[in-house]
Amino acid sequence: MKFFIDTANIEEIKKGIEMGLVDGVTTNPTLLAKEKKDPNLIIKEIMSIVSGPVSLEVISKDTEGMCREARALSSLGENAVIKIPMTEDGIKAVRILSNEGIKTNVTLVFQPLQALIAAKAGATYVSPFIGRLDDISSRGMGIIEDITTIFNNYGFETEIIVASIRNPLHVLDAALLGADIATIPFNVLKQLITHPLTDMGIEKFLKDWESIKK
Ligand code: G3P
Repeated sequence: MKFFIDTANIEEIKKGIEMGLVDGVTTNPTLLAKEKKDPNLIIKEIMSIVSGPVSLEVISKDTEGMCREARALSSLGENAVIKIPMTEDGIKAVRILSNEGIKTNVTLVFQPLQALIAAKAGATYVSPFIGRLDDISSRGMGIIEDITTIFNNYGFETEIIVASIRNPLHVLDAALLGADIATIPFNVLKQLITHPLTDMGIEKFLKDWESIKK
């Protein structure tokens, strides 16, 4: 299972890399806006420090504009992956870009048939947003299960990126389902490592060691 970090924050990416937990990065316009810096500079910096796939999102709504942006973004590095929203124009763009050998990540996927269509169009990745489904009382992880079954039924090579992750249980459920990738915010990535019993155990070991030290 690969872990991507879902952020445009350079410090978080660097810390995640040090932890050995960054197989790739996913960004989106909201994450870039949070950084309050020139997004083009942030993107260049991310590309310079990350060797795995980096998802960069287009903002055009029409196929032609999406393809134009995608070609420019993909020239930033071989690891650039172009995030395309799941719309009719988006799917047309994915087909064109896939024929040109440009990697795509179809984003804002909320139901399994959208993922099937993205895979048929040649998407490299699909990103179902599970947290946002949970937010509206719909079982987000259910669509991961369905998409996995559909992709296995037909042998699609499109990889599933479990996105919109809010807590460690989302990562656990994704792993239990055998999802290819989880894209994880930095705060959740850190939570994956810790357990209060680990901290208490260390404290007790050190205290006991102190008591026998000469
Ligand atoms: O990468 C996009 C996705 O993970 C967004 O998450 O928290 O805005 O629903 P969120």
